[in-house]
Amino acid sequence: MRIGILGAAGIATGLGGAMARAGHEVFIGARNPGSAKEAAATAGAAGHGTLDEAAAHGDAVLAALPAGAAPAVAELLAGALAGRTLIDCTNDLTFGADGPVFADEGAPPVARRIADAAPDAHVVKAFNLCHESVWSSAAPESDGRPLGVPLCGDDSGAVARTAGLITSLGCTPLRLGGLSRAAYLEATAAFAIGAAAAGAEPRLAFALPMVGPAPA
Ligand SMILES: NC(=O)c1ccc[n+]([C@@H]2O[C@H](COP(=O)([O-])OP(=O)(O)OC[C@H]3O[C@@H](n4cnc5c(N)ncnc54)[C@H](OP(=O)(O)O)[C@@H]3O)[C@@H](O)[C@H]2O)c1
Repeated sequence: MRIGILGAAGIATGLGGAMARAGHEVFIGARNPGSAKEAAATAGAAGHGTLDEAAAHGDAVLAALPAGAAPAVAELLAGALAGRTLIDCTNDLTFGADGPVFADEGAPPVARRIADAAPDAHVVKAFNLCHESVWSSAAPESDGRPLGVPLCGDDSGAVARTAGLITSLGCTPLRLGGLSRAAYLEATAAFAIGAAAAGAEPRLAFALPMVGPAPA
């Protein structure tokens, strides 16, 4: 798969590197050409260049940007992103006295803001729950089982493409339904990062029975 990455920092090189090692044709774009070049070398990406070039490259495009910047960048690139799968891995968090909180409490989820900014892109929320270091592992796992990667989106083709990408990384796609579920994924990041920052193990909080069929 051709994957364009917007941004050239930790998640771009970590997750982008895993995608490149899985055989995907990764292109890293950034506003600073030197950053894009350096990140592409780190990730083993096939190419690097501008944000516009990365958007135009991808069957899927990963927004690896600060949440505060991602909607504005999506709006600038809306033409190039039209019809493409736009994967949003962002978390709009800041650290308060008790741990991470939403930077813009009461605002719509970032995924919704990105979808509104680039209305013809097919936004999928995914990859926002794992630290960049996870992707340095050949087969990311959790408690000895393949890592589950939750995802949600409104376009079935884009969700299927993202699920295939997750599978190609040796992980298990966990389909949550439509993009309205992104709010809960973004809140889960606040919970998990807060627990980890407090020295707790967030995975230990989940012990649920399987109920009902998974959303298509
Ligand atoms: N790092 C992780 O482990 C992790 C895990 C899960 C999710 N996430 C999420 O993934 C996203 C990326 O995180 P990150 O840690 O890789 O890096 P980050 O510090 O959030 O993003 C830095 C990248 O975004 C670019 N950027 C910043 N403002 C921009 C703007 N206005 N226009 C265009 N590009 C801009 C920077 O370019 P310049 O170099 O030109 O400033 C740099 O390439 C974040 O939303 C984060 O919450 C991160």
